[in-house]
Amino acid sequence: MSHPTGIYLNAIANRRTIYNLDPTLPQNVSIQDIQAVVQSIIKNTPTALNSQENRAIILTGKTHKKVWDAVINSIPGENGKKRPTSARDEAFGCVVFFTEQNTVKKFQADYPAAADAFPVAASHTTGAAQINSWTALETMGLGCHLQHYNDAVRAALGELVPASWTVNSQLCFGNPVMQAGEKTFIDNPVNIYN
Ligand SMILES: Cc1cc2nc3c(=O)[nH]c(=O)nc-3n(C[C@H](O)[C@H](O)[C@H](O)COP(=O)(O)O)c2cc1C
Repeated sequence: MSHPTGIYLNAIANRRTIYNLDPTLPQNVSIQDIQAVVQSIIKNTPTALNSQENRAIILTGKTHKKVWDAVINSIPGENGKKRPTSARDEAFGCVVFFTEQNTVKKFQADYPAAADAFPVAASHTTGAAQINSWTALETMGLGCHLQHYNDAVRAALGELVPASWTVNSQLCFGNPVMQAGEKTFIDNPVNIYN
């Protein structure tokens, strides 16, 4: 495998879910570095007809704690609170991914024959931005896990972001305390048909 491709494939293979985090950053990484990486990914991840509906913000410090407190308080009973409590207390921050819905609506109006395709494409491209970010953050030595407390996060953010931004996920990050466990794979060949 040629050199840059090997590096890229290793980064993809090394991206894992790591729940055990410490709320710090690796020594040589700043929150501005993370911002620059996510900014570049939001800019360069492709969208249908270059519609550019992907958005992201980074929560850390008091705002991260406040949003995750609201998520915890939105969950009845104790069992479901474990993961958001760890996100609040053990993650240094999180990237929240959004879709800007006015953009999606505009493309639906401009291309009525493909109207049904735009929300699907928006869902694909936010997924691409999320996994690109997850992979990139792990190459920086961060540990990450992906969460979907979307309604509670949207409610907690209030007017911090425009009303047209719908929440897709939260990528929680911090210093990894433990490496990811072993992962099993199905036999899933990519065949060539000639
Ligand atoms: C689209 C998608 C949604 C996921 N949603 C969640 C989630 O809501 N909560 C969670 O803890 N992990 C979530 N995960 C993490 C997966 O469970 C995890 O990626 C999978 O088990 C493979 O493990 P790995 O990330 O270590 O490779 C999600 C992953 C993907 C790709």
